[in-house]
Amino acid sequence: MRHVLITGGGGFLGRKLATALSARADVARITLFDQAPMPDLPPKATAIVGDLLAPGMLARIAPPDVDAVVHLAAVVSSGAEADFDLGMRVNIDGLRLMLEHLRGLGTCPKVLFTSSVAAFGATPPVVDDDTPTRPQSSYGAQKAIGEYLINDMSRKGFIDGRVLRLPTVVIRPGKPNKAASSFASGILREPLNGVATTCPVSRDLPLWIASPRAVTAALAHALDTPADLWAPWRTINLAGVTVTVAEMVEALARAGGDPGLIDWTPDPAIAAIVETWPARFKTARSDAMGFKRDRTMDEIIENYKTDDM
Ligand SMILES: NC(=O)c1ccc[n+]([C@@H]2O[C@H](COP(=O)([O-])OP(=O)(O)OC[C@H]3O[C@@H](n4cnc5c(N)ncnc54)[C@H](O)[C@@H]3O)[C@@H](O)[C@H]2O)c1
Repeated sequence: MRHVLITGGGGFLGRKLATALSARADVARITLFDQAPMPDLPPKATAIVGDLLAPGMLARIAPPDVDAVVHLAAVVSSGAEADFDLGMRVNIDGLRLMLEHLRGLGTCPKVLFTSSVAAFGATPPVVDDDTPTRPQSSYGAQKAIGEYLINDMSRKGFIDGRVLRLPTVVIRPGKPNKAASSFASGILREPLNGVATTCPVSRDLPLWIASPRAVTAALAHALDTPADLWAPWRTINLAGVTVTVAEMVEALARAGGDPGLIDWTPDPAIAAIVETWPARFKTARSDAMGFKRDRTMDEIIENYKTDDM
């Protein structure tokens, strides 16, 4: 991998991945593309700011020497639910145009796409690699469609696609975002920083989560694994850990955060989305391909304190 393009490169995971890749000897150049400004670039990175669907943009951000594309630019879950047209435009039209552009390069570049547990909807109690996707949100449907596009264009030999269905990434630093799962970071991050927050779901709700460290390492590992490990079905459920909201709050208290800063006010709109997301998985393919999972909730909180507080 000489030249890596990260779309959504100004976002949470894009920035972390860029920093990790910039330390590698085999990566010469990183293009970070986002509609938001990107200050403080890591070494080897250049920034291009704009809209994925702006005329001429794809040719600008993905020239023929790009050999790996990490496509993270997306309208996230509550955003895509609140604005159907925007979700379709970015998550479907933007992705398809990107894939068609890469096909046109004729170089079969690696394409890493991040899907989500939201692709599932109603599932059996334990999800495995063969569980079908029946999304119950626009975001989940758009991610599932993206998975099929990447798989089919890889089957045709246009791209070398790899799809990770990410667990909810906890703890996201900074401010709450428009993901329906934003509270999963907020109930830890805010009290750790002495700030009040609201939990819109019940304490019993189980969540399937992974830390920013684990997910960043997984994105890099996904780019490194040989293509034949991914074929013929190039979508895998990334290994995570199952924790209930109550267990997260217990770990918060052990880490010195004050659970009294959490206001427990149910939000039926948020609950309706996240309660359809599966929380218990058997991740045979992820494990066999060498992806590593977090160990404990306590460790995830300690890593947040070290990396992001
Ligand atoms: N963070 C998680 O918990 C999680 C879980 C599952 C899947 N994912 C997926 O992983 C990817 C990255 O997630 P993240 O948490 O870093 O999200 P993020 O919102 O922090 O980053 C996404 C970036 O995409 C950019 N973007 C959106 N529309 C754009 C457009 N039209 N043109 C250019 N840039 C545009 C945004 O400005 C943003 O910086 C997303 O595709 C998301 O759906 C994330």
